[in-house]
Amino acid sequence: MEPKLDLPALLEVGGLEVRYGGIRAVRGIDLRVGERELVCLIGANGAGKSSTLRAIAGLSRDTGGSLRYAGRDIARLRAFERARLGLALVPEGRGVFSRLTVEENLAMGAYARSRAAARPVRERVLALFPRLAQRRGQTAGTLSGGEQQMLAIARALMSGPRLLLLDEPGMGLAPLIVQRIFEVIRMVNREGVAVLLVEQNARAALRLASRAYVMESGSIVLAGEARSLLDDPKVRSAYLGESG
Ligand SMILES: Nc1ncnc2c1ncn2[C@@H]1O[C@H](COP(=O)(O)OP(=O)(O)OP(=O)(O)O)[C@@H](O)[C@H]1O
Ligand SMILES: [Mg+2]
Repeated sequence: MEPKLDLPALLEVGGLEVRYGGIRAVRGIDLRVGERELVCLIGANGAGKSSTLRAIAGLSRDTGGSLRYAGRDIARLRAFERARLGLALVPEGRGVFSRLTVEENLAMGAYARSRAAARPVRERVLALFPRLAQRRGQTAGTLSGGEQQMLAIARALMSGPRLLLLDEPGMGLAPLIVQRIFEVIRMVNREGVAVLLVEQNARAALRLASRAYVMESGSIVLAGEARSLLDDPKVRSAYLGESG
């Protein structure tokens, strides 16, 4: 988990604004994810974390600021065009197709690829998720919560992303399942996929990431090496449930 501050930027967000009517949910934030880096974004409910991820993915209407990804300006690209460039969002609440099987969900993730190109990717993805491999024919709606989260991540991986945006993958899951999901995120990152992880479980996220940003009321209030944030008294009392 050595810091990778010198990695070339894959994503550079400058002065990002997200508005909903009169509400400024994101108020001019700067953040950066290096190639192959694992960065986390933490903050209380309503801080603007999901809005940030959605804006990066191209799913927000009223936004401002600059977005550079893989050396190009993507601020005006539509969500599907960003996805084609390797930007994949796994949204809050998973969103698997519950009436489709595991196999069909994975196929949806690879829709932009030919069958021949999708096959080896699918094999690799299923190797990362042995539980899904056993349940290929099961409809997604009947999977457990943890399995559905794994399927959502697996489906995103089918598109062959360079940057994975994960919105609270541990939400509502038992600690052991969260641990397993975080292990998978680590493995995916080791294979070269950059990750921007939003997570309520700040301690686990800070242990996994090399760098982190802390968001409060639409602004970034702290940024730095994940390890030093874990030791920061302000982070400890506000986000790690420790007094003093
Ligand atoms: N579609 C929307 N319309 C109006 N307001 C919205 C919309 N989406 C989010 N907001 C508001 O924007 C603010 C930021 O919300 P956001 O979902 O980005 O926070 P978050 O940090 O992801 O919170 P949580 O940890 O609860 O998921 C909140 O005040 C929320 O009510
Ligand atoms: Mg959220």
